[in-house]
Amino acid sequence: MRIYLDHNATAPLRPEVHAALLDFLGPPANPSSAHREGARARAGLETARAEVASLVGGVPAEIVFTSGATEANNLALRGALAAAGPGAGLVTSAVEHASVLETARALAADGRPLTIVPVDAEGRVAARDVIAAIAPATRLVTLGLANGEVGAVAPVAEVAAALRGRGILLHTDAVQAAGRLPLDVSALGVDLLSLSAHKLGGPGGVGALWVRRGVRLRSELTGGPQERQLRAGTENVAAIVGFGVAARLARSEQLEAGARMSALVERLWMGLRARLPDVMRNGPAAPPRLPNTLNVSVPGCTGESLMVLLDLAGVAVSVGSACVAGAAEPSHVLRAMGRDSEAARAGLRLSLGPTTSTADVERVLDVLPELVAQVRRGAAA
Ligand SMILES: Cc1ncc(COP(=O)(O)O)c(C=O)c1O
Repeated sequence: MRIYLDHNATAPLRPEVHAALLDFLGPPANPSSAHREGARARAGLETARAEVASLVGGVPAEIVFTSGATEANNLALRGALAAAGPGAGLVTSAVEHASVLETARALAADGRPLTIVPVDAEGRVAARDVIAAIAPATRLVTLGLANGEVGAVAPVAEVAAALRGRGILLHTDAVQAAGRLPLDVSALGVDLLSLSAHKLGGPGGVGALWVRRGVRLRSELTGGPQERQLRAGTENVAAIVGFGVAARLARSEQLEAGARMSALVERLWMGLRARLPDVMRNGPAAPPRLPNTLNVSVPGCTGESLMVLLDLAGVAVSVGSACVAGAAEPSHVLRAMGRDSEAARAGLRLSLGPTTSTADVERVLDVLPELVAQVRRGAAA
């Protein structure tokens, strides 16, 4: 039996989602069609819209379904700045997901003012630094709610309070927070929020942008009037229905799953510390942080070498960084936290899910110390 500890990359499809998907794969399902088949698709789509809205404490009319969080982030950043007009700029942080950071850089290359705010050694961005980075041209601030590599949580509500009444939109990428931390758009005070289904046990290739009523965005796609004219193209109804089921389960289980995963992460961390005295934890030393994420560095071992050996031993984990042409790039998150490129290559990310068991954690604790010894022997040889 394989052990899967890479839920921040993607989660296994939940059985309830699988069943719901099958229900909508096969029959014709164009929600824009006027006949009975169209009405069934429309009903499925609208049920899912209500479930996804509930997950974030919003209303259904504020949900725009997209092909995933990458598209939702692009729509938020590009759409908000296009609607704000030429010269409108943005502020973000150095530890954002590539779909935010690369989009922000592309907008800057097109002449839009961009400030990238640094983070501290634990991966946290400070609200005062974000607020200080705001320039007269700033029309959008975008901050990931929880970092998928090290688990740091951004002070989104504090930034929202400072932005109130200044005509600056606040977007948050809540992909890694959804289902793991309480999520409420009113408490956060945001205007735009991105989600992805596949991190919640839904299918890949579907996500959503929550858009506060009254917020103006320019659509990135030209075509039909779907999704309140914000996302042209026939909706992927089966995937969206599956997303709705995953969102409902994530909302109802978040508190219990969060507490359980947090306890298992602590067990894993304490166990590793007992067996490998020089292991270091990357990320916040205390909450607020993601309850399911443990990022560690073991001196003398690259994250990649341990990841490969764990994979052979039946445990799937990640280094939390992109592999380019077979060579692991140092993590931009660990680099932003002040690690040099060698230390940034040492990070190993274990991310748990609602199905992770105590036995899974014990198995990792059994195998990892021997794999560390193996890497160190190899390095010494
Ligand atoms: C924080 C964050 N934002 C955005 C994305 C992109 O999501 P999707 O795969 O749905 O495009 C991911 C997924 O890796 C993510 O972790």
